[in-house]
Amino acid sequence: MTRVGPGTPMGTVMRQYWIPACASSEIAADGAPLRLMLLGEKLLAFRDSEGRVGVMDHRCPHRCASLFFGRNEKGGIRCVYHGWKFDVNGKCLDMPNVSEADAAKFQPRVHAKVYRTAERAGVVWVYMGERETPPPLPCIEATMLPDAELRVTLTQRECNWLQALEGDIDTSHFGFLHVGSVADEDVDATNMHSVAVTKRAPDFKVTDTDWGTMAGAYRPSADGEGLYWRICQYIFPFWALFPDGTFSDNVTANAWVPMDDSHTMVINFAWVKRTQPLRTTVDGNTIAGLEFRHNFLPNSSDWFGRWKLAQNAENDYEVDRTAQNEVSFTGVTGITLQDQYITESMGDIVDRSNEHLVTSDLMIMQTRKRIIKAARALQDAGTMPPGVDDPEIVNGARGGAYNAPADADWMEEYQAQLAAAIGPARG
Ligand code: FES
Ligand SMILES: [Fe+2]
Repeated sequence: MTRVGPGTPMGTVMRQYWIPACASSEIAADGAPLRLMLLGEKLLAFRDSEGRVGVMDHRCPHRCASLFFGRNEKGGIRCVYHGWKFDVNGKCLDMPNVSEADAAKFQPRVHAKVYRTAERAGVVWVYMGERETPPPLPCIEATMLPDAELRVTLTQRECNWLQALEGDIDTSHFGFLHVGSVADEDVDATNMHSVAVTKRAPDFKVTDTDWGTMAGAYRPSADGEGLYWRICQYIFPFWALFPDGTFSDNVTANAWVPMDDSHTMVINFAWVKRTQPLRTTVDGNTIAGLEFRHNFLPNSSDWFGRWKLAQNAENDYEVDRTAQNEVSFTGVTGITLQDQYITESMGDIVDRSNEHLVTSDLMIMQTRKRIIKAARALQDAGTMPPGVDDPEIVNGARGGAYNAPADADWMEEYQAQLAAAIGPARG
């Protein structure tokens, strides 16, 4: 599940899908090429004079000099070693270090290794699979919002993609990592989400879905009349929809895109009008430790130089032990940073043989099984994993929370709540 390089079972699953890779704004027409590490492959992204995007192996097909140092000029990228030039489709446009006769012979035989690209939602998408005609782009709602209603954020996480994603489908950590220092009387008991603080050991339902897996964590609701549900989704191959407010508040998705086996770029797509519940105590103050405080280092041109946080392993994420003793549970500030440091603390690739999974980990177990089954089916029988050819099966899925009658069927209730939810696509 964790290895994503060429030829690995999970790497092959991921290569069936379009992959969000970088922000469109990271490459300018005729600007410097961008080093792009994706699924363990060293690629370059560049934008040509006409605005077309190229994503290619960084090695020149002549003698493997890095095209990172190439000249992005007049409709293609020119290698500075012997001057060969390639367009965004990999076609060799020029071979000036040999005679015209030789160039006429060799040029048509030489192609740069390029991948198909698309742009949507302010993001460059890459198809790294083998099909002549790529499959459709995904239909995850948060990636299909109009630009004006969408906010896209990239953050690099220095660990394997799967342990990072598992944080999004692990609801019981919320009551500890994020709000562990909050006392029952600190939260507004009329807030429907207050039970995420006051009842920190929910029960679970989990199921396979057409697109991946889904979990509902439930506990008695704050109004005492039924159950409070928090729903999260895993969508193939690396998407998570997490609960943060009601379905109507929460149109957002995380893509946990592997750069390699131990570095992940999380790309968050979020509806800008989304509101975030349960960030304040009953007296209106921000819950200790939830202030927004992480910041980014300047991006560098290194293979792993993009969208790194200033609070990182080198400075122990600026953990404040006094704050940890006196005000917040962790001494690390902000939900993003808390999720980041705790999954990085597991190591590059968590050694799962040391785990002891319990009932709160049902969704994680279900999801691992689903992933392994799909990877095996692809490897053994060539069976396409979910949603490659029919991404619309995701069917408007959202993560989020709601109250429901105690005797309602959980899947029927999910569908009813989703149908009733508002949001950009639903008015
Ligand atoms: S290595 Fe690029 S042109 Fe020779
Ligand atoms: Fe979290």
